[in-house]
Amino acid sequence: MAEHVKVLLTEEEVDRRIQEIGDQISRDYEGKEVHLICVLKGGAFFMCELAKRITTPVSLDFMSVSSYGSATKSSGVVKIVKDLDEPLKDKDVLVVEDIVDSGRTLSYLIDMLKDRGPKSIKLCTLLDKPERRVVDVHVDYTCFQIPDEFVVGYGLDYDQKYRNLPYIGVVEFD
Ligand code: IMP
Ligand code: MG
Repeated sequence: MAEHVKVLLTEEEVDRRIQEIGDQISRDYEGKEVHLICVLKGGAFFMCELAKRITTPVSLDFMSVSSYGSATKSSGVVKIVKDLDEPLKDKDVLVVEDIVDSGRTLSYLIDMLKDRGPKSIKLCTLLDKPERRVVDVHVDYTCFQIPDEFVVGYGLDYDQKYRNLPYIGVVEFD
């Protein structure tokens, strides 16, 4: 099946909003060091852009989880594919995600990371699809709430494609 991508949020809109959220995080964490956790692969583009705009000291770590599911639906069963390199004990942790959809992945992940004893843990997402929520997750920073459509770009993929688009688009099937 052939598909094409329709622009939903332009590169300028996304960049401007990341700057605003970066400013807000810099204010909220003033005098503290923020430990950013990137959820691979989707969160990587957003995390890099966000980290550059935070003015308080930043450290970074990466993890990769897979949810067993089809290309467009997550099953809620989460497996750690790559764990963090550093312990979280006494750190002010900010988890950086590409999108919160059903909330299953994040709710599992946040609970697991809380057990590692961070001083605080918050969640920052580029996109949120509130209509799709199945599991309640508290999101502290959201760049954009979007309607229930399958999106790509800025780290988000369809079948591993389109992660490198500098904007957010909706996949439409011809
Ligand atoms: P959740 O567990 O349902 O909240 O979904 C988690 C993961 O599903 C996200 O981190 C994405 O990797 C993927 N996902 C959900 N919606 C989309 C989308 O619209 N485009 C691309 N990936 C998505
Ligand atoms: Mg993801």
